[in-house]
Amino acid sequence: MKKTILSGSTVTGDLTLGNYIGAINNWKKLQDDYDCLYFLADLHALTVFQDPKVLRERTYSFFAQYLALGLDPQKNIIFVQSQVPEHTELSWILTCLTPLGYLNRMTQFKEKSEKHVKNINAGLYTYPILMASDILLYQADMVPVGEDQRQHMELCRDIVGFFENRYGAGTFKMPEAYVGKMGARVMSLQDPEKKMSKSDENEKNFVSIIDEAKSIEKKIKSAATDSGTEVKFDLENKAGLSNLMTIYSVLSGKTTEQIESDYMGKMYGHLKVDLAELVVETLKPVREKYLDLMKNKDYLDQLMKSGADRARPRAQATVRKVYDAVGLVKS
Ligand code: TRP
Repeated sequence: MKKTILSGSTVTGDLTLGNYIGAINNWKKLQDDYDCLYFLADLHALTVFQDPKVLRERTYSFFAQYLALGLDPQKNIIFVQSQVPEHTELSWILTCLTPLGYLNRMTQFKEKSEKHVKNINAGLYTYPILMASDILLYQADMVPVGEDQRQHMELCRDIVGFFENRYGAGTFKMPEAYVGKMGARVMSLQDPEKKMSKSDENEKNFVSIIDEAKSIEKKIKSAATDSGTEVKFDLENKAGLSNLMTIYSVLSGKTTEQIESDYMGKMYGHLKVDLAELVVETLKPVREKYLDLMKNKDYLDQLMKSGADRARPRAQATVRKVYDAVGLVKS
């Protein structure tokens, strides 16, 4: 039996070069060795204001971006959260088991409610319970997440404990978080202390996989670097430059030492020009495939449907077990 990996992504922004690098490094390996589910968390996106048109368009766009990056819809189950209603069904049961005190501790809720003062809704607060449902529904063994989701993963594990204390063991598998072990870390272009993030407000911080060539060039060339001149991989003193070298290294297959020797006696600017070209060339087929997919929404609808159809029976099996354990009468 293969282990199950589940990963969700909130439908905001566009996928980035960081996602590309994570994807090419991991997906192909993972899809053969594990049972992999990837979903778009459109319900989670609703915790902040969404224009309905934009949300719908972005869901298609995200789905197409995943496919364009090479995620195989046959080998993996790729689906949209809201198309599998069991997510919200399980969420209610788990909501009734989660003490307020545990939710009050969530730092992301605190941050988000400071940021969205005009829309501090209950969904923002119960968000981590819906996330726990996403994971527990599929009996996931491993959940790759960013550092910012570590606390939510802990809560998910706590919720398994609450359930077992009240109803006994055997309903859910205890999931493990898989934090930051998935290949090279790509950092923000202007602020290399931070991870490159698709939801960054400053667009100069990330390259999106569907950016136009001009915009990619501009962003790479204006990436923040120190005032030195020697091209040397040094994460502590040359974080910005080292980040560019990491990207260069992954995309070209050269080691950072090779890059150092290639640019001996040259300036940072030379490296930036070459890197910009390399990124543009690398992302060109991705962007083309993406634009092609977006022309055919019927095809995307079909793939979404078949993903949801494959995910649903598994989700239903868990909900059935849960309803039974909790004492709800079968229909
Ligand atoms: N909250 C996650 C994020 O913002 C997205 C997410 C929702 C998720 N449900 C999940 C991630 C389940 C992993 C598993 O990144």
